[in-house]
Amino acid sequence: MNQPLSVTRRTKLLAANADGIAEAAELLRAGGLVAMPTETVYGLAADATEGTAVAGIYAAKERPSFNPLISHLPDPAAARRQGLFDANALALAQAFWPGPLTLVVPVSSGCTVSELARAGLGTVALRVPAHAIAHAVLEAAGRPIAAPSANRSGRISATSAAHVMADLDGRIDAVLDAGPTEVGVESTIVACLDGTPRLLRPGGVPRAAIEHVIGRPLVLAGDAGHAPIAPGMLTSHYAPAARVRLDADAPEQGEAWLGFGPGQDFPTALNLSPTGDLREAASNLFGHMRRLDEMGLRTIAVARIPEQGLGEAINDRLRRAAAPR
Ligand code: TXA
Ligand code: MG
Repeated sequence: MNQPLSVTRRTKLLAANADGIAEAAELLRAGGLVAMPTETVYGLAADATEGTAVAGIYAAKERPSFNPLISHLPDPAAARRQGLFDANALALAQAFWPGPLTLVVPVSSGCTVSELARAGLGTVALRVPAHAIAHAVLEAAGRPIAAPSANRSGRISATSAAHVMADLDGRIDAVLDAGPTEVGVESTIVACLDGTPRLLRPGGVPRAAIEHVIGRPLVLAGDAGHAPIAPGMLTSHYAPAARVRLDADAPEQGEAWLGFGPGQDFPTALNLSPTGDLREAASNLFGHMRRLDEMGLRTIAVARIPEQGLGEAINDRLRRAAAPR
């Protein structure tokens, strides 16, 4: 199963039923690569405890191997066996698991997540997704499952099985198709390492909801002058082929338009949410970017998105897509 990637594999499309779930779990237990749905985006899953399986992820994604990966567990109890949870981590897990939150915590003595999945760090990123099919696969796999977004490195995250296939067909063993994902942006990542919870990546759980639980403002990693600890925060991580122009009022000649809210009817346009609903916008973000990018125009102009709730995560992704490269 871990043959070199120069050997093209046949990528199986599995249905989200008992047979598909069983086959996905079997492939994972044998060291294979399976794209599986979560409530945020599709994940490119592999056995997190096996370095060779994890290496397959980096290879298929063409991802720099120093990036640590998120390990997925079926329930909070299984997650707690992998890491050391302080009071903040416990409160956040209690409030948001299962759900689109990832906690970075020190490894426990019984942690089985491979060094490679942790990029050699003494910390581990843990997540319990809120998705019935993901839950069933994780339960059947019976071990932590590493799963970065199921796209090639630097490309737009996959929110449907078709997006996964567009990037990874022939590079992975299977795609478990459960339709489009619900949240549409990745999980919020919070590090609980030294008594001060830090926001490493905005995502599906809004910052205000987290601050409500921990009872104080979230410190942004990087605020205190240190380098970003989540490589996902590298500036040009989410990069379409087209140039991206942000906070636009209208498209210019020859630009594609990514709108938000009512009254945004331009030619060559898609609207993230005609009603101005940020949840709808988040779930449409990567798919719309991808579709506009496929039209082959030089520039995608993007309407202003309010910087509140899920808007913070949307703008974070958009700023990365627009970063010079
Ligand atoms: O919604 C999601 O989180 C999706 C779905 C599939 O679950 N997964 C995802 O994983 O976005 P990935 O690998 O694309 O993002 C992992 C992020 C990276 O920014 C990585 O640097 C950070 O988590 N990370 C992982 N382990 C870390 C650690 N020990 N310390 C700091 N950052 C870590
Ligand atoms: Mg990603």
